[in-house]
Amino acid sequence: MQKFAKNKDFSSGSVKNSVSFLVLARPQPHSSSLFVIFVLWRTVSSTSDGTIGVFYNVLTSLNRFVLVVCLVICCQAATAQDSPSSVAPSFATTHLNLNDPAAEKKIDAFLRQMTLEEKVGQLVQYSSGQPTGPGTGRTEYNDMIQKGEIGALFNITTARQANAFQRIAMEKSRLQIPLIYGLDVIHGYRTEFPIPLGLAASWDPELVQRTARVAARESSASGIHWMFSPMIDIARDARWGRMAEGSGEDPYLVSAMARAYVLGYQGERLNAADSALACPKHFVGYGAAEGGREYNSVEISEHTLRQFYLPSFHAAVDAGAATIMSAFDSLNGVPASANSFTIQQILRKEWGFRGLVDSDWTSIAELIPHGIANDPATAARKAFLAGVEMDMVSSFYHDNLANLVRSGQVPESAVDEAVRHVLRVKFALGLFEHPYADEKQEASAMLQPDSVVLARTAAERSFVLLKNSPLDPGSPLLPLSSDSKRVALIGPLADDAAIMLGSWSAQGRPEDVVTLRAALTQKLGADHVRYAKGGDVTHASDEQLAEAVKVAQNSDTVILALGEDASAMTGEAASRAYLGLPGQQENLLEAIVATGKPVVLVLFSGRPLTLPWAFEHVPAVLAAWFPGVQAGPALVRVLYGESDPYGKLPVTWPRSVGQEPLYYNALNTGRPAGNADLTKPPSVAANKYISRYIDEQNSPQFPFGYGLTYSSFSYGPAQASSAQLSTGTLNDGLRNAKSSSNSEMTVSADITNTGTRASEETVQLYVGLEGTSTAQPIRALKSFQHVKIAAGQTQRVTFRLGPEAFALWDDQNKYTVEPARVKIWIGPDSARGSETTLEITN
Ligand code: NOJ
Repeated sequence: MQKFAKNKDFSSGSVKNSVSFLVLARPQPHSSSLFVIFVLWRTVSSTSDGTIGVFYNVLTSLNRFVLVVCLVICCQAATAQDSPSSVAPSFATTHLNLNDPAAEKKIDAFLRQMTLEEKVGQLVQYSSGQPTGPGTGRTEYNDMIQKGEIGALFNITTARQANAFQRIAMEKSRLQIPLIYGLDVIHGYRTEFPIPLGLAASWDPELVQRTARVAARESSASGIHWMFSPMIDIARDARWGRMAEGSGEDPYLVSAMARAYVLGYQGERLNAADSALACPKHFVGYGAAEGGREYNSVEISEHTLRQFYLPSFHAAVDAGAATIMSAFDSLNGVPASANSFTIQQILRKEWGFRGLVDSDWTSIAELIPHGIANDPATAARKAFLAGVEMDMVSSFYHDNLANLVRSGQVPESAVDEAVRHVLRVKFALGLFEHPYADEKQEASAMLQPDSVVLARTAAERSFVLLKNSPLDPGSPLLPLSSDSKRVALIGPLADDAAIMLGSWSAQGRPEDVVTLRAALTQKLGADHVRYAKGGDVTHASDEQLAEAVKVAQNSDTVILALGEDASAMTGEAASRAYLGLPGQQENLLEAIVATGKPVVLVLFSGRPLTLPWAFEHVPAVLAAWFPGVQAGPALVRVLYGESDPYGKLPVTWPRSVGQEPLYYNALNTGRPAGNADLTKPPSVAANKYISRYIDEQNSPQFPFGYGLTYSSFSYGPAQASSAQLSTGTLNDGLRNAKSSSNSEMTVSADITNTGTRASEETVQLYVGLEGTSTAQPIRALKSFQHVKIAAGQTQRVTFRLGPEAFALWDDQNKYTVEPARVKIWIGPDSARGSETTLEITN
C-alpha cells in the first residue's frame, strides 16, 4: 500500500517550466498542446525574424533546437501526467512582459525625448550602502539622479532609502524615469535559507522555487526588485569559494535550480508587487577559474562551453530571466565582460534574449588590468560593443560613452538598444506606475511564519548524511535517541548564529537564527546538554581544547559542530588552497574521538572539505553546509530522526586537494584506470601507464549524487523499453514536435526499501554515450525522481527519456543525436546503479 504523497519526477520537469513561461502564463492541460506548439512556434520564430510562414527556413539551427526541445518536453509533460508513478512538479509560470507592444511604444517615446547624456545615465549603476567590492570613491548620488545620470542603484536595503532616492528620480529629474534597485539576494533576504549549494543538495527545484519566492517577497517589500541571483556557474573545483553560492557541478541539476530561482523570483507576473527580476550570473565560465583561484583566467573550448557551462544559462533564459550579469573572468583570452561571442552571438542571437545585460562590479574597468584596453574609453567601447549594457560601479560608461558616440566609435543606435532593454525591464516591473515601496508594510513582510517553516524544511532537506556507521556492537549512531540525557555539544559552530547565515546573507540577522545549541537545549533541557566551544574557527587555546575533552568525557554522546567561517572562507574572494578544517579543529576532532565516546560530526561548510581522518574514524558525519535561520531546529529534527536526511551531493567530494578539479561527468581518457588498484603506488607497467596519481586514488571520497538516509534501498535491474533507437527518429524528435513522442522511451527499475523505516530516495538516471564524434562523459545525469517508499516495500520507478537525453554537441558544435552505444544507469548516485544498454543506429 502506498503510504505517501505522490512522487516528484524531475525528469526534464524544469524544462517543462520554460515551456509554461513561453506560453505566457496560460495553464497547459495537454488537450491544448497544439495551441502551445503554435505559440511556441511564434515565440521562437519571432526572435529570429518575426515571420511566421517561412519560419523553419529562417530559424537558426539553435533556435530550432530551442523550439524543438521545448516541443518535445511539452509533449512529455502531457504524457507524464498519465503516469501513476511520476507527477511533474507544478511550477508557477512567469508572465514576462518583455514583449509588450504598449511598453515598446512608450520606450520609443522616451528615446525620442532623451538627450545622449540621459540615455547613458540609464546605463549607469552604482552601489549605495555596504560595498560588495573595491570602492570607486563615489558615494554621493542625489545630484546625479536629479540630472538623469543614474539608471540603477544597489546595496540599498530599506524601503526608506529606496524611496528617498526614488523621489529624486520621480520628482526632480526631467524625464521621471524610476530607478531600479538591485541586491545580492542569494539565498534569502531576511529569512535566510541554506546557502545555494545546500539548497541544491535537496535536489528539489520546487522547494528552491518556494524559497526564491519568499526572498522576492521580502526584498521587494524593501523596494528591491532585482536579485543578483541565481549564481549558476558550473563549479568543479572546491578551492573556489564561490562554489558555495551555486548549485554545483552538473549542468542538468544546475539548470533545474536555475529555472527554479528564476520562476521563484519573477513569480507569475513580473509587475506584481512581490516579484523581482532574476539576474543569472556570471556569464560565463567564471566557475572554471584556473587553480580554483578567485577572478582567475579561464580556458574552455567551445564544445565544453556549450555542453557543460552554457546549459544552465540557457535554461534560465528560457525560464524568462529578465537580466543577466557578465562575469569577471577572461574566457579564452577575451574577458567575459567584453566577449561578443558569448553575449552577442550566443545570448542574443542564438537564444533570443530580450532582457538586460549588466556588468559585474567594475568588470568593465577590469578590462584594463586584463590587458585588452589601455584606457577607460577603450574599455568602455569594448565592453559596450560586446553587449554589456549597464556598467556596475566602474563609471566608465558615465565618463566615456557619450564621447564615444560623438566620435563615431559607438553607434547611437546601439546605445538606444541598450536603453530600451533597461526601460523594458522597468516597464515590465511596473515601476513607472508603482515606483515606491510601502514603508509601512516593509516590516510585516519579513520572517513570516510560513517563511520560517520553509526555512526549516529547506535546511532539513539540504543536509547530506555522509557516513553513519554502526557502533560496536549496535545499530548506526544516527538517528540519536532522546533517551541519552548526557549530550556533549562541542565546537566553534555549535552556537555561532552569524556563521549559520552563510556568505551573502543580505538582511539576515544573527538574532533571527536558532543555533544548534539553542535548539538542542530546547529539546533535551539545559541540564542534559553540556556545551564547550573548543575554540574559534581559526584558533583554539590549549585550555579550550582541554575543557572540550573534559566535557566529552562526561557525556554519553558527542555532537561536534566544526567547519568554516562562512563569510571569511566561502563565497566571493575566498579561494582556499587547503581544504581541511581551519585552525585547531582537526586537533579538537581527534582529541574528542580519542575519548571513545560516540561522535556525530556536523560539518558546516561552503564546499566539500578534505577530511580523510574524520571519514575513517568518526562514525557519523552530516554535511550541513550553512543552513540559515533555522539551522538548529532543522539539525535537531534530523539528528533525532524526526526527519530523515534526504540530501544528495550536488558536487563531487574529493579525498585530497590535489585531485581538484574533480567532477563526475569527466571524460574517460585514452588510458583509463579501469579496475587497477589505485590504493597503492604503481608497481608494474599495467598499473603505471594509466591515468592516475601515484600517491592518491582517482575516486572521490564521496561521488556526486551521494547521500545516505536512515533507511536503505536496493535497486533491481534497469529495463529499457527499446534495445535500439535510430538517429533518424531521435533527430526528428529533436526537430519536429509531432514525431517527438515516437522517439520517446522509458527506463524502469524496481526500488526496494530494505530498511526498517519509511524513507525517500532520490533516484538518479545517468546516460553514457560511446562511439560518438566528440568524447562524452562516462556518465551524465539526465533525470531524477524522489520516491517515497515504506519499509520493506518495492516501487517501480519509470523514467521517460526524450531525444535530448541522447543528444550531444558534436565535433562541429551542433546539437544532435549520433549513432552510439548507450549505457543507462538507474542508481542512488553517480558511481553506482543498475545498468542497461541500447544502441543508437543510423
Ligand atoms: C561582485 C560579484 O561577483 C557579483 O556576484 C555581485 O552580484 C556583485 N559583486 C554585486 O555585489
